[in-house]
Amino acid sequence: MECEGIAGIEQFSSPGKGRGLRVSRAYEAGELLFSCPAYSYILSVNERGFICEQCFTRKKGLAKCGKCKKAFYCNVNCQKKNWPMHKLECHAMCVYGENWCPSETVRLVARIIARLVRYKKHFITLFVETESMNMEDMDNEKRELNEAHIAGLHHFYSKHLDFPDHQALLTLLSQVHCNGFTVEDEELSSLGLAIFPDIALLNHSCCPNVIVTYRGINAEVRAVQKISPGQEIYTSYIDLLYPTEDRIERLRDIYYFSCDCKECTTKSMDMEKMKVRKLSDEISQKEIRDMVCYARNAMEDFRRLLEMCELSIDKMNTVFDDANIYILHMMYQAMGICLFMENYDGAVRYGEKVMKPYTVLYPAYSLNIASMYLKMGRLYMALDRKSTGISALQKALAIMEVVHGKDHTYVTELKQEIRGE
Ligand SMILES: C[S@@+](CC[C@H](N)C(=O)[O-])C[C@H]1O[C@@H](n2cnc3c(N)ncnc32)[C@H](O)[C@@H]1O
Ligand SMILES: [Zn+2]
Ligand SMILES: [Zn+2]
Ligand SMILES: [Zn+2]
Repeated sequence: MECEGIAGIEQFSSPGKGRGLRVSRAYEAGELLFSCPAYSYILSVNERGFICEQCFTRKKGLAKCGKCKKAFYCNVNCQKKNWPMHKLECHAMCVYGENWCPSETVRLVARIIARLVRYKKHFITLFVETESMNMEDMDNEKRELNEAHIAGLHHFYSKHLDFPDHQALLTLLSQVHCNGFTVEDEELSSLGLAIFPDIALLNHSCCPNVIVTYRGINAEVRAVQKISPGQEIYTSYIDLLYPTEDRIERLRDIYYFSCDCKECTTKSMDMEKMKVRKLSDEISQKEIRDMVCYARNAMEDFRRLLEMCELSIDKMNTVFDDANIYILHMMYQAMGICLFMENYDGAVRYGEKVMKPYTVLYPAYSLNIASMYLKMGRLYMALDRKSTGISALQKALAIMEVVHGKDHTYVTELKQEIRGE
């Protein structure tokens, strides 16, 4: 059976993997197989003002919603089209102000429910049901997270939505976890979340033959290898940098299946990925295993640390202003964690929040302010925001010329950096 409306692609039953898609003709690398508009989507709060909420066009001079002043659009046309979804949030954002903080998952689920109700669709059938998904497999942490999402839905969206029962909401959340996509830009920064029903039919392989990219609110599927007629189309659900054991664990944890692709079977890249030092005494297998264990725990600790910072900021924010020093302290820590995890957008976000209060709370000539301007300037430069970067570096320089002295190497080096030498 041809996949609905897509020439050259058909849906079939993939042994051991549920439904899948395969090609009925040959495709070369670089060829577009198909594209799919988002069924439902949200723009991340951080991207507001840079990207149109409706069509995801990135441009300067977007016009803002006159009511909440928080949603931005190309023109009235985009704004009108977006209203059935934006109205779920517009009024609530005004009422809650700084305390409006539903998670991205909650925002997406609210929109899905609104669409289902609007088009009177039966609640569950719309989605690709993941056959191997088993609610009993879920650990406590996931259960708690789901309960928090449901509480968030009731808290922020009950004025506009009639919710289905608790069990149906849990099912919908699981479906969104398995079938939701993070829409990313060319630097792989997250722009938002979306549901692309046709793309959710693609199964996973660690040696994928297609890649999914985004153009506005459409997802596009392109071949990255030659695909012969009858072959299944595989995308990768995960970051392929990691060794087999890590990939398998991640796929089990999020998608509830074990990958049996060629790379998971041969593990041909694992040695390269797990390179160890060449020392005079050979490192034992046990030492390597222990260090892998240590590294994984350290990575997990950092993720949790960032979560802790975010949670504590949310909690303190109910009483303290953003410029309160306890909040500033946590934001500064969160910035450090983001930097360590190479999440530069996150680091800039926290840095920007810290910067202004710092300039008020510290004396005018302060090493802390200078170092923050330096860090931010370098971050902006690395993120290709040159003029903002230069301006921050110049502010650092002005302070450093006073506190370090004009002839200090730090100062001369910074001058060179600003000149791009
Ligand atoms: C986004 S859905 C893909 C479509 C799915 N096969 C279906 O019928 O709904 C993801 C689910 O597909 C299954 N799946 C995807 N890739 C797989 C693979 N390589 N091996 C086994 N199951 C896989 C898993 O159940 C996973 O949770
Ligand atoms: Zn637009
Ligand atoms: Zn609005
Ligand atoms: Zn694999």
